Parts: sequence; structure tokens; C-alpha cells
Amino acid sequence: MGYFLKFSDKEKQLLIDLPGHLGERLAKESIKEWVQLLQRRLSLSATETPRLGPDILWQLRYKIYKSFETSGSSTRTFLAMDPHERLSVVKYSDQDGIDGNGIPWLSKQATRMEEYRSYLGHHIPAVFDRNELASEGNRNSAFFYSMEYRPFETLSEYLLCDPAANGQEFFSRLDVALRHQVRMLYDQPETWIVADQPGEDSYLQKFYIDRFRRRLTLLADPGANLNSDWIEGIAPVNHAALMFTRLMSTDTLTINGITYPNLPRLLELLDIHKDKINQIEPKLLGLAHGDGHIGNIGFEIGKRIEDGFVLFDLRGADANARIDIGYDTGKLAFSFLHALIDRAHALKVPASSLEVNEETREANVRLEFDASQMDIILLHLELRKQLWGFLQNHQPLTDVFRKMGEEPEIWLVRTQLGEAIQLLGPAPDRLKDDPSGSISMTYYVLTTLLLNNFLRSNGFDMETGYPLVPNPEKIDLFRFL
Ligand SMILES: Nc1ncnc2c1ncn2[C@@H]1O[C@H](COP(=O)(O)OP(=O)(O)O)[C@@H](O)[C@H]1O
Ligand SMILES: [Mg+2]
Repeated sequence: MGYFLKFSDKEKQLLIDLPGHLGERLAKESIKEWVQLLQRRLSLSATETPRLGPDILWQLRYKIYKSFETSGSSTRTFLAMDPHERLSVVKYSDQDGIDGNGIPWLSKQATRMEEYRSYLGHHIPAVFDRNELASEGNRNSAFFYSMEYRPFETLSEYLLCDPAANGQEFFSRLDVALRHQVRMLYDQPETWIVADQPGEDSYLQKFYIDRFRRRLTLLADPGANLNSDWIEGIAPVNHAALMFTRLMSTDTLTINGITYPNLPRLLELLDIHKDKINQIEPKLLGLAHGDGHIGNIGFEIGKRIEDGFVLFDLRGADANARIDIGYDTGKLAFSFLHALIDRAHALKVPASSLEVNEETREANVRLEFDASQMDIILLHLELRKQLWGFLQNHQPLTDVFRKMGEEPEIWLVRTQLGEAIQLLGPAPDRLKDDPSGSISMTYYVLTTLLLNNFLRSNGFDMETGYPLVPNPEKIDLFRFL
């Protein structure tokens, strides 16, 4: 197998050698277009190169070829040639973003990448350049950093685009990724710090529950983050905020005929049961990825799986702060529904399906499955189901948690909570690409399902008068198919 993309200096042309399924993916994502752009660039003068992306990068002599699909945050990712003629990836933002996921996120992300490179070596792309851009009288008007381009395929792309993708191969790749993460990041006792700082809120309260509450509030707040992106869509954004306000005013949410306590009620249960939450608090924090879903773990094309692991898109909040390793396993669990909602668009709750009865305080929605992608849906749901056993039996992971004083009953339960809590994360961001609110609604509805199941299977009682739906299989979506 050859390289995904390579320059031949001798022949002055771009060599492309793709395994079959990647060729299909490129066609699908119209990346062919940028490959053509790159090819054309070699015979074009710079001024004729099509201008894409922010002017400021052009002024700094970055030549931008193509935007990568974003994960919905307030940053943009470009494939570019940097001023030193290095093929690079540039991450750029000119806004603070929602809950700080723009400039602040990127700048901390670059810091963390540099710090983690001393642990991960070549498994993490090198940061070439970081730049804070200020226009007159206005500090921090934009920020970008560039890093080396790596020809990788993410685990998520493998599942979505390789027709031969299967569970066994997926888990063997994930195993390699986790072994690397344990060895190079997690199992570094000299970096560990105690999670509980006296006099502060607990870690789970701050990083799981408070954050979750903030996201819920943002969904219903028409004035939240009225930055330039949002002003363009001000009417639809307000419309979505109104819709979420109505949705959150009810006590129950009926999904395809099954009635659950609505999310704000479930949040009350989390508050009532602080004692139970205390039992699953992390004891120590360390070096974790911090956004380690399967779309942020790559394997370089043309290398053996054992050698090709690449880690990127690290957590951009809390620079220099240590992270709960269980946050990574929670993000891993979150991967499958996230990919089905946001990458494959295979699960959807149409905003138009929402019915609210203000008198009875009941809401009703319809969760739809894209019948043409049933194989993708089943694969993801099946892997999600198998993930728990895989994690529990993963010796290096179990060992490192044990070293940190945690048995699987603790970190696996925290992983479940993490999955549910984090599934609401992308919902506010998504309003700017999808002002109808359907994607955000899909996140909201699936979070309701997961949080119900988490609370139910972990014995959070039901004294609020809104009974949780029993679900013996813990986390199971198959019942809806
Ligand atoms: N160093 C890199 N080399 C090659 N491709 C990259 C690199 N960094 C990011 N990408 C591509 O850009 C996409 C988005 O970048 P990422 O850092 O994950 O940002 P986001 O926050 O939008 O998820 C990735 O999924 C990957 O396809
Ligand atoms: Mg990413």
C-alpha cells in the first residue's frame, strides 16, 4: 500500500496511491477537489491559486486548499501550504465561540499539543507555528496554529467508509490506540495530581454536571453567543431557543411511544444523589486526551497498525490542568452515537416532530433511523454494546486505573455517566449549522435516553414522581429498531 498523498520533487507532481475504500471516501467528502487543487497549484502562480479561508492567513503566505469537515465547534481546520512550503493543517478561529470553544480552546489546545509531544513523540503531529492575531485596538481577534500534515484515517472513518469494517478489526485497532495512550500518557505517575482540592466543588460536579447544566441553558437562551456567526441566523436561532424552552418546560419526554422523565428532571436526580456521585469521583488526574472519541484517533495509511497510531485534537480547555482518564473512556463510549448523529446522519429527531402539551407538561418526539444505512447503524450499536466488556478486560487500562486506586466498578460507572453527559455537548454548537434545531434535538433526545438508563441501572431512586424507564440491558437502543 502506498501513501495517501505525497509530493515527488523530481517529477514535480503529486503522487496519490489509495486503498480502494479510501478512494471512495475521498470522492464522498469531495476531497478529490483539494487533491486536484494541489495538483493544479504546481502549475499555477500563487496569485492564481483560489482563495479560500481567512484573508489573514493569505497575508501570512499560507496557501489554503481545503477546509476539513468540522466537528461543529467554533474553529475551522484547513489543509494548507505554510510559508516554508510544508504541507500543513491549520486550525483557525476568530471568535470566542460557545462556552469558549473558539480562540481560547485553540490556544490551549496548541499548548497541550506541545506539552504532550514530549510524551507522545511522533505519535502526535508537531506544531509548526502558533499565532495570536490582533487587529488595531482589539486583542485576540483571531488565533491559529499550524501543524504537520499526517496522512491518517480515523477510527470513525474506518467504520463509516470501509465496507469491510468489522468489530474484530475495530477493537484490535482500538486496543493498539489504548495501549499507546496508557503507556505514553496515562501511566505517568509523576504527572498525577489529587483530584479533590479542598474547598472546591468536586471534579464530577465541575467537569461533568455543571458543564452539562450550562449546555442545557445555552440551548434555551436566544441571547447566548450572539457572535458574527449567529447574527446571520438570528431568527432561526431564536426559533430554536424557543423550541428548547418549550421542550424543557415539560416533565416527561415520550420517544417513539416510551415515556421518560425529561432531561431537567433527570438533572434533578443527579443533584439529589450527590452521595452516589461521590462514590465514582476520580481520585487522581493525569495526562488524558480529553476529547478522545474515535474521530480523534488516527492510523497512518501505509504503516502497520502498531506503528501508525496518531493522536490529535486534544482537549483545549484547562491548559496545564490534569484530566480524569475516565473522561477519555466516556468520550470513547460517546463516539458511536456521535458518529451516527453527526457523521452518518443516520439517527434523527426532526424538530417538526416535537409536540408539547403545556397542560399535562408532556412532550413527544419521533426518533428516526435512516433505513438505507441500517448496516452502519447496527455496526455502531453493536460495537457500543461490546465496548463495556472490551474496556473491562483491557489489562493495561484496568491496571492503570488500579494503580490510581480505582476498581472497574468505579471507573466504568463514571464512563457511563460520561457518555450520557457528553452526548449533550455538541448540541448548542450545532444550532449554527442547523438552525432548524433537528441535530441539536437528536442529541437532546438521545441524552435523555442514556441518562435515564444510567440512573436506572445504577440505583438512583425514583422518588421525584417521574419514574425512570426500566432497562435491564443498561444501555440499549436496539429496542427502537
Ligand atoms: N495533523 C493532521 N494531519 C492530517 N489531517 C488532520 C490533521 N489534523 C486534523 N486533520 C483533519 O482535520 C479534521 C478536523 O480536525 P480536528 O483537529 O479533529 O478538529 P475538530 O475540532 O473540527 O474535530 C480531522 O478529523 C482530520 O481529518
Ligand atoms: Mg476532531
